[in-house]
Amino acid sequence: MVSWVYLSDIASHVGSRVALKGWVMNRRSSGGVHFVIFRDGTGIIQASFSKEAFSGEAFESIGKVPLESSMEVSGTVVAEPRSMTGYEIRVESYTLVQSAEGYPIGKKEHGVDFLMDHRHLWLRAPRQRAILRIRDTIIKSIRDFFYDRGFTLVDAPVFTPSACEGTSNLFEVGYFDEKAYLTQSGQLYMEAACMALGKVYCFGPTFRAEKSKTRRHLTEFWMVEPEIAYIDMEGNLKLQEEFVEHIVQRVLSRHKKELKLLERDIAPLEKVRTPFERLHYEEAIRVLNENGSDIKWGDDLGGDDETILTKLYEKPIFVHHYPRKCKAFYMKKDPIDDRYALCADMLAPEGYGEIIGGSIREEDINELLAAISNHGLKEEHFKWYLDLRKYGSVPHGGFGLGIERTVAWICGLHHVRETIPFPRMLNRLTP
Ligand code: 4AD
Ligand code: MG
Repeated sequence: MVSWVYLSDIASHVGSRVALKGWVMNRRSSGGVHFVIFRDGTGIIQASFSKEAFSGEAFESIGKVPLESSMEVSGTVVAEPRSMTGYEIRVESYTLVQSAEGYPIGKKEHGVDFLMDHRHLWLRAPRQRAILRIRDTIIKSIRDFFYDRGFTLVDAPVFTPSACEGTSNLFEVGYFDEKAYLTQSGQLYMEAACMALGKVYCFGPTFRAEKSKTRRHLTEFWMVEPEIAYIDMEGNLKLQEEFVEHIVQRVLSRHKKELKLLERDIAPLEKVRTPFERLHYEEAIRVLNENGSDIKWGDDLGGDDETILTKLYEKPIFVHHYPRKCKAFYMKKDPIDDRYALCADMLAPEGYGEIIGGSIREEDINELLAAISNHGLKEEHFKWYLDLRKYGSVPHGGFGLGIERTVAWICGLHHVRETIPFPRMLNRLTP
């Protein structure tokens, strides 16, 4: 019996006999040898089947084995500089686990809808695997960043009784005899948790009934939301810069191969070093107007505005001090000019736009009560949240980073639909 190994470890098995378990990615034949490009999920290798090693029938069936069939092979690993992976397995025996007739995804170009309908199979494509690997590293780097800085991971609920980010895009669900909403953000719960643990973050799926089709919006997306007691505006921005630099540099150090496969120009990513540019909202409006946008004071930045603005800078930028009227109820007002909120969005360069929204939170109960009422929200829904302002209220703040938009930017993808294994969008609930 030869032992089963993974292709990620193949370099340490040169000269040995091993077994591999995987799928047929591709095949060709030349000069009495069938070559199969073999994939096991951790890597790929060229597998050669020579006429001498097999009976006529076994040899013939390999020459016809359908793509994406599952197969186990045993043989000797050799270094083979002519193969795309540098190694080859000279197959001595094989078992066809399942023969895959008529795999629907071929070499020809397929439309996006077709690929999305076959997302469960499309995940096997090299490009999709590269994106999923980078997404995994981004998530790991996020967890490491906060763990190393003494933050505690606190999970927020998914069923919530009220809105956090406006009432227009809530998903309502039946909750026995009551109504509940799928969470738009774990922030309010993190505000409670940071009063217990100082520095916390949550990381989970969030839901917004986004009725518009854009390249930046999903109805289900993953968000990481740190919240810190006693942090100020400057401290919050600095934490965000260091955080994003950390994520990008980690991906660069581990995924040159995947980024190359994605044809991602890494020069702009190498420039993602702190400090980032900061623009007051008023300045952002001026720059936008000079560059063809008709945005007016008081408007939130639209997707097109973010594209225009971020093409003008090499690094991510912060747009800070938005007018309070275009932002969420919980943001603290600027003590110097109360038209503005102590908030900032981080916009990713190269036209990508907003990846982070964050702010200092209103800690005064009377201000908060006024804001709840001005935003048309019901005070009774926030009874517990208001308790936080009654019992040891302190200045605090935090931010939320959207995972899919971050993956899209770092991987250089046009649309967020490829950044998540099974995207949920306005017209997409399957597979
Ligand atoms: O700016 P947002 O709405 O901020 C919040 O939810 C705050 N409660 C965060 C906080 O301070 N704790 O969302 C934060 C980020 C956005 O910058 C964006 O990256 C992402 O979440 N995001 C979406 N990503 C994909 N699809 C959508 N529909 C998204 N909506 C927001
Ligand atoms: Mg936002």
